[in-house]
Amino acid sequence: MTGCVVVENGVIKKVIPRGGRTPAHADAVIDGKGLTLLPAFIDLHAHFRDPGFPGKETLESASLAARAGGYATVVCMANTKPPLDTFEAARSLRERSAALGLIDLHPAVALTKGMEGKELSGIKRGLMKQGNHALSIPDPPLLFSEDGKDVLDDALFLEALAAAAQLGSPVSCHCDNGGVEAEKAKQSGEPREVWSRIEENNATERAIRLGSQAGCALHIAHVSTKEAVAMIRDAKRKNPRVTCEATPHHIALAEKTAALLGAESFGRVNPPLRTEEDRRAIIAGVAGGVIDAIATDHAPHAAQDKAGGAPGFSGLETAFAVCCTELVRNGVVSLQKLSSLMSAAPARILGLKDRGVIREGLRADLVFVDTEAEWIVEPSAFKSRGKNSAFAGRKVFGKTLATMRAQAMRVVTV
Ligand code: NCD
Repeated sequence: MTGCVVVENGVIKKVIPRGGRTPAHADAVIDGKGLTLLPAFIDLHAHFRDPGFPGKETLESASLAARAGGYATVVCMANTKPPLDTFEAARSLRERSAALGLIDLHPAVALTKGMEGKELSGIKRGLMKQGNHALSIPDPPLLFSEDGKDVLDDALFLEALAAAAQLGSPVSCHCDNGGVEAEKAKQSGEPREVWSRIEENNATERAIRLGSQAGCALHIAHVSTKEAVAMIRDAKRKNPRVTCEATPHHIALAEKTAALLGAESFGRVNPPLRTEEDRRAIIAGVAGGVIDAIATDHAPHAAQDKAGGAPGFSGLETAFAVCCTELVRNGVVSLQKLSSLMSAAPARILGLKDRGVIREGLRADLVFVDTEAEWIVEPSAFKSRGKNSAFAGRKVFGKTLATMRAQAMRVVTV
């Protein structure tokens, strides 16, 4: 649509179609002619490395990267040092982020203490709050996750999933551990592409099974195999509380690129870039609605860490362009659908009812994009400290120009 969005006190006050009556007075008017205004993006999955790894990223550099990429809301993962395993630690990081004022940050809390897989994390004290309001424990986090570690013990995992169900927060499962069968394949010298596929497929099956048993909202992170897509498609028929995400790199790249970059260094990511067939299954999953959302899995590393095999890519600043290029320009989905994958769907998964679409009464978290802008990915220009991108040197289409976050009294016209 073309028209005008009126913002007052950080809230979308009016959406006026072209030709409608615009307000006579405004503190400021932003002319977005030729551009597209979208709801700001919401990332379900980023690694902010804070506390603990300032050589890779800090709260500030990650938040600046998020803003540059069009994100106003981000969930950051708990694999920090120390791991984020209490509600209090999550609240304190959230408060530090609020003081910066760049994005709305929601730290995920680990399922087990120290992410060691031995006993429940602060989720347990969170449960106690249910019966004892005198305990001063902050509200449950929007998401729990044990990150790439998963919880290996079935009984403990089930207990954690049941606790999350009781607290009403979804659990994001990274499905990187495939139990005995994957371990056997690893030990017998099978290549990574073989054992890591067993890992993801077995772990996805297990997470869906135990998540359904516990009755919690289960979110599968960074789906990358064709088998996992099929499993999730089936699971969703039986259990609508199963959701999943795909990353821009699994949508756009396959094992060939990893080999070119160095499969054990600059091309390494968890889960790995897989076959072209897997990539096509992810794209079909996006087109067909099996994949609910796009998440970056922004995983910044210092160059020497990448050279030494640290897995992951910086993704916040390229996600929109990569998806715009691969999905919209290639005719897989419309721009509107991409917007929903990056905003409305993550908002729904997180239970954030006040954002994700441009609608009167919702937060004025907005991003201007130029869908025609053509540019070359140059990681040295990233705001993120992690200059590791699998898209370095690639031509992409679609640029995020300005991210606005619940700002006071503005009129935006497009
Ligand atoms: C993640 C990171 O660097 O934190 N990396 C990644 O490749 N996704 C950790 C992980 O999930 O292995």
